[in-house]
Amino acid sequence: MGKTFYITTPIYYVNARPHIGHAYTTLACDAVARRRRMLGFDTFFLTGTDEHGQKIQRAAEAAGKTPQEFTDEISGEFHALWQRMGITFDDYIRTTSERHKRGVQELWRRIRNHGYIYKGSYRGQYCVFDELYVDAGGPGGSCPECGRPTETVEEENYFFKLSAFTEQLLELYTSEPHFIRPESRRNEVVSFVRSGLRDLSISRSTFSWGIPVPDDPSHVVYVWLDALANYVTALGFGSEADSRYRQFWPADVHMIGKEIVRFHCVYWPAFLMAARLPLPRSIVAHGWLLFEENKMSKSRGNIVRTQTILNVLGADALRYFLLREVVFGQDGSFSFDALVQRYNSDLANGLGNLASRTLAMITRYFRGEVPYPSQTAAHTPADDSVADLAKRTIADFHFYFDQYQFSRALEAAWVLVAAVDKYIVENEPWSLAEKEDENSRARLATVLYTAAEALRIVTALAHPVIPDATGRIWSQLGLGEITKFPLATLAWGQLRLGTKLDAVQPVFPRADKSTIERMQRMEEDPTPATSTAAGTAAIESGANAAASTAGATRPAASPAVAGDGKIAIEDFAKVDLRVAEVKVAEKVKGADKLLRLEVDLGSEVRQIVAGIAEAYAPESLVGRKVVVVANLQPRRLRGLESNGMIVAASIEGGRPVLAGFLEDVPVGARLK
Ligand code: MSP
Repeated sequence: MGKTFYITTPIYYVNARPHIGHAYTTLACDAVARRRRMLGFDTFFLTGTDEHGQKIQRAAEAAGKTPQEFTDEISGEFHALWQRMGITFDDYIRTTSERHKRGVQELWRRIRNHGYIYKGSYRGQYCVFDELYVDAGGPGGSCPECGRPTETVEEENYFFKLSAFTEQLLELYTSEPHFIRPESRRNEVVSFVRSGLRDLSISRSTFSWGIPVPDDPSHVVYVWLDALANYVTALGFGSEADSRYRQFWPADVHMIGKEIVRFHCVYWPAFLMAARLPLPRSIVAHGWLLFEENKMSKSRGNIVRTQTILNVLGADALRYFLLREVVFGQDGSFSFDALVQRYNSDLANGLGNLASRTLAMITRYFRGEVPYPSQTAAHTPADDSVADLAKRTIADFHFYFDQYQFSRALEAAWVLVAAVDKYIVENEPWSLAEKEDENSRARLATVLYTAAEALRIVTALAHPVIPDATGRIWSQLGLGEITKFPLATLAWGQLRLGTKLDAVQPVFPRADKSTIERMQRMEEDPTPATSTAAGTAAIESGANAAASTAGATRPAASPAVAGDGKIAIEDFAKVDLRVAEVKVAEKVKGADKLLRLEVDLGSEVRQIVAGIAEAYAPESLVGRKVVVVANLQPRRLRGLESNGMIVAASIEGGRPVLAGFLEDVPVGARLK
């Protein structure tokens, strides 16, 4: 059997629609998977969705859907987006699938049969958002991970003897120094485990949206044990058809965001040790993608939708930007300005320009056939330095990429792009072409061969990161299908003379200020076409649908008002007015009138941006009960998503006075 490589993304919760934070992990994995395939590995790349648990059950209730309807819809959106982005996943696991359920139950049985599960009773705090048992703080406390209020859970549960694995885990981190990358995360995990592990509750009995515990269906399996098992259930673990499991397990890499390190580096290996199954080879954690210094998340409402970038600049631009701009492992910022700047400097003016000028000159001066490089009088040290640099670039690129240092790998490749650009400028092939003597002709051939060969090398190396454009450059170079190229053999001098080029076409048209404005407009006006499953399909039909997202197609409001200005009670009933409590209030940078609020609606905490900053100091609002229009379409204000509206009277000069109650009312109560 050949060499195998198995890589996974986290499986994404379906309480939020996909955004570029999710895309970041998925496309990093896609780049790794594509490169491994080119290097000749039998590669398996898994992604999917995490669909059980209290958080999802509540999100479905809030959306007025059954959990299954709700998860089908959002899981479908993730799937459609990955397809649209050209993500080359080999399988898509859903935790609500039968194959997964079977595998989870088998894993449970094995852990139990080895004596690591016992029944006990749990009383403590739980964070539904993170689906995490919180040790510290009693009732009324907040989650150390996300700061949200915790809930008290008191129930009879099954426990996993996590404490029995302290020594074995520490031994693992020592003997396998690359088990957790980067180093900084490894150190955090080691000190967490050293500080002592408590047994973990691994079942819940007060709600039902989950996988039944074998032999005790009054409990469902704790959602993290359920979710982590996806990495083996997708391969067929627990079923007769487990040939993939035998071929690909243990995984080479679980790629994750830094906030779920503990689950992957402590709980997951401990579950596997208890079940006597092999452990994954490594867990690679990246940092967060920030938008204007904040983590992108649904509750903050500062999400950038992937569709916007795909519609305007295409998947390669996003892929290149995220892997080049963000130092993998550290947090990085996203902004449309930076995206367009990188796109222009490195793709349009960099690789794109190198490709089109080199190929156009070969077409013009050598009738589209790669010319022969001269080894004699027409040869200069400048040609050798390009060749030497290209050889070093190949080695450096592989080295950094293998360390998951994508930005350094790309930086190395683009040093070569810049060097070849300079080489072309200094050697002036266009002037050589005007001269008729033989030496100039030979020199012209050498310069263009050197440029084309360097272009071929950068194209092959960058293919896993920018697959579409490099595929086109490769075929313009007359080399056929790039994915068939055996990357491990890449070396200077492989471009054969006489290779016939294909028609030359530009790959990266330049972007300008209007490109940024278009993307910002699309983000500020999320018409259904970009934010629902139906919308994803519509966008797939191309430029027309893309243009329609820029603003023109808001559905007209239905004429509910009768001639006398009165509305029917059913019309009023459409407005979902709720009592909510303000949990967080802060000024919005650069906007004198706006406050950013997080309000608790009972079923969820939401972000609302309200124009009340001139009337209320933020600190005076925390803890106050307000009335919220809960079913208003989301809007974006200053890049922040506002999910609802606070009701206020408008008095002299438009000053707002918040509506409130004389008696105490519970959060979430409806006004009717
Ligand atoms: N369902 C769990 C994972 C279970 S894996 C067995 C979960 N899901 S999630 O939907 O919240 O996705 C978290 C992952 O999405 C992160 O670990 C990261 O890979 C990616 N990201 C989501 N938002 C992100 C950013 N803003 N920045 C970077 N990555 C982000 O946790």
